[in-house]
Amino acid sequence: MKFFVDTANVNEIKEAHELGIIDGVTTNPSLVAKEGVDFHDRLREITQVITDGSVSAEVIALDAPGMIEEGKKLAEIAPNITVKVPMTLEGLKAVRTFSELNITTNVTLIFSANQALLAARAGATYVSPFLGRLDDIGHNGVELISTISEIFDRHMIETQIIAASIRHPQHVTDSALNGADIATAPLSVLKQLVKHPLTDAGIERFLQDYEASQKG
Ligand code: E4P
Repeated sequence: MKFFVDTANVNEIKEAHELGIIDGVTTNPSLVAKEGVDFHDRLREITQVITDGSVSAEVIALDAPGMIEEGKKLAEIAPNITVKVPMTLEGLKAVRTFSELNITTNVTLIFSANQALLAARAGATYVSPFLGRLDDIGHNGVELISTISEIFDRHMIETQIIAASIRHPQHVTDSALNGADIATAPLSVLKQLVKHPLTDAGIERFLQDYEASQKG
């Protein structure tokens, strides 16, 4: 399973990139709004940092012609832009067109296996099931990842599964175990993955032992 970082903040993207563990970036309109910057300018900046991994940029239009027009402009920013499209009937039409134009797509706001299957059949490069938001309403986000993964495997579907709306490290482990191809997570969660109290205690002990040995 690969990692993408889920943010539109360039400093966070640079920090994640420097860790050497990320293969892409996902953004959404809420994350861009938090930055208070021009969307296209920000995508240009992001694609200067992430030059070969997928950078998801979401369309705002709700009708297929509008999505296609917006998506084409986004795709012109850099070759590694992936057009993010919401899971709707209009979205499916747009995904089919993008697929014919060889523009990669990420179908977002996936909350059921049937939605994922439809997106894949429309030609989506990625589908993004939202774990955290499903858990928030008492459903099981990880179970959805597992179901989609089983369906895609059984039907030899090449669309990749991005586990999205990841809130904590256990979501990451569960996504990897249940067949997600990618986990997209905020930088704060990626950094949490590094931490273990026994690692910290071990480093402390090694340093103490080394220092004691050098004194005596
Ligand atoms: C994924 O592409 C989305 O940007 C993101 O994971 C949504 O996460 P949230 O539910 O924490 O807003």
